[in-house]
Amino acid sequence: MPATSLDTIVSLCKRRGFVFPSSSVYGGLGSTWDYGPLGVELKNNVKRAWWRSVVHERDDMEGLDAAILMNRLVWKYSGHEATFSDPMTDCRACKTRPRADHVFAAQKGRDPKGLPEINAAIEAKELVCPKCGSKDLTPARPFNLMFRTSVGPVDSGDDSGLVYMRPETAQGIFVNFGNVLDTMRRKLPFGIAQVGKAFRNEITPGNFTFRTREFEQMEIEYFVRPGEDEAAHESWIAERTNWYLKLGMRKENLRVREQEKHELAHYAKRCVDLEYRFPMGWSELEGIANRTDFDLKAHSRSPENPDAVGELKYFDQEQKKHLVPYVIEPSAGADRATLAFLCDAYEDALVKEPPVEETAKLRDLVESFAKSVGRREGLAVEVKQRLVSTAEVIAAGLPGTLPQLIGLMEDSDAAAIEVMKKVRGVGEKIAEEHTRTVLHLHPRLAPLTVAVFPLKRNDPRLVEMARGLKRDLQRSGVRAVYDDTGAIGKLYRRQDEIGTPWCVTVDFQSLEDQTVTVRDRDNMQQERLKATELASTIGGRLA
Ligand code: GAP
Repeated sequence: MPATSLDTIVSLCKRRGFVFPSSSVYGGLGSTWDYGPLGVELKNNVKRAWWRSVVHERDDMEGLDAAILMNRLVWKYSGHEATFSDPMTDCRACKTRPRADHVFAAQKGRDPKGLPEINAAIEAKELVCPKCGSKDLTPARPFNLMFRTSVGPVDSGDDSGLVYMRPETAQGIFVNFGNVLDTMRRKLPFGIAQVGKAFRNEITPGNFTFRTREFEQMEIEYFVRPGEDEAAHESWIAERTNWYLKLGMRKENLRVREQEKHELAHYAKRCVDLEYRFPMGWSELEGIANRTDFDLKAHSRSPENPDAVGELKYFDQEQKKHLVPYVIEPSAGADRATLAFLCDAYEDALVKEPPVEETAKLRDLVESFAKSVGRREGLAVEVKQRLVSTAEVIAAGLPGTLPQLIGLMEDSDAAAIEVMKKVRGVGEKIAEEHTRTVLHLHPRLAPLTVAVFPLKRNDPRLVEMARGLKRDLQRSGVRAVYDDTGAIGKLYRRQDEIGTPWCVTVDFQSLEDQTVTVRDRDNMQQERLKATELASTIGGRLA
């Protein structure tokens, strides 16, 4: 049973060292997250898999790592200073500042066509404050999302040292177009790829690492001759979709959505979103836009841009003339992709049935939980309905629904109901003994590839051989750890929960014939392999 709520993923991430709330010793900073020991391995693997696929495995791509801080003029001429904003309205009654386009969409059932339509609805008192219900809303105003800072030791207060924290990595690529073209002697079509941090002062960050103010992008700008842009766009849509699928993402959880005209960014002729079915619903994973020649022209010297030092153009040998290439931009989020792979890989599975009496006791408690939800004051009606129907389904289906119960026990709304403490008291123990949580991550993405255990930690011969195997694996480039802190069954469960594809056990037979047991995370089957062939066999499975 896959994760049905983001709370389940958040809980696993905190418990097992994938992601922690940032600055938690000072109470945290809203919507900022730190990747822990396993999270950094996973996210690095996602970025590595992306780089390998879009740079190393192709002949038409180059890489780049541009600075985060750029000349302010980049953002003036890219259009971000003027247009990179969200429309905000102020509620005069409760003094909150909601996003006006979200209020419009939630209350009218469709996206607005622009600021004038939102403001007409506010003026006609058709929209209400989502917090207090008042119709006393101010006209919506654009709120720029770029973080500002200043360079130099003195802040003169006049914006002379103003710079922005880049809100997209793309501009670093555009302004380096000429440098890459000249130094690498590229011919069209070719692309430039970059992975790096981006910053946006998002009004409504949330959903864990899905929308944050500091995040990482994996962006490609692919330059083509005008007229060849539409075919290139189609080919990148297919290429990027396949990348997620090849790394194990389930087809039914990935879809392609055409952006409507009014959704398009100021630079885009067409944009297609790859969306993932997150626990909170279908949401954007990656945007693939046709940015035309907008950016290269915007950063070229012209009557509209007297500040640029030259022109970003290409000399076409075949046509013997200069042209400004069109650009296809597949723009993915490293954090979003990591979150999507985690959600997709997550499974709680029943591995054996608990005794009938234990199941009956748990069923009674879950039923009593469902009844007390109705009596609880201060919970929204939809939350109550969701909790009651989930609990009823679980109670009726136990023990088969134990995996769903794990989700309910981690649900932050359910925690507000007193009886949940008793449900957890009994349920967690039963779940611990009869279910397993598995992350079915693609082996290339898993934070650890192999965990090596000695059958007995107090036998120095087993320990020495296991430690040696771990070192050999690591030397051959396979990420491996040694662990002897529990019984083998418990160690398997721990590794399943963090997605380690293979566990290797060194036992007494290993000392005699130099073979080891290799246990597969997904089907739990075991095979015996020669210790000397382990690294090459695992390496082969990763290739
Ligand atoms: N250069 C184009 C561009 O930046 P975008 O759709 O705004 O386009 C591209 O962003 C990708 O960056 C998104 O599909 C998403 O994966 C990621 N992204 C954007 N804003 C984000 C945020 N606040 N938090 C996490 N990821 C974000």
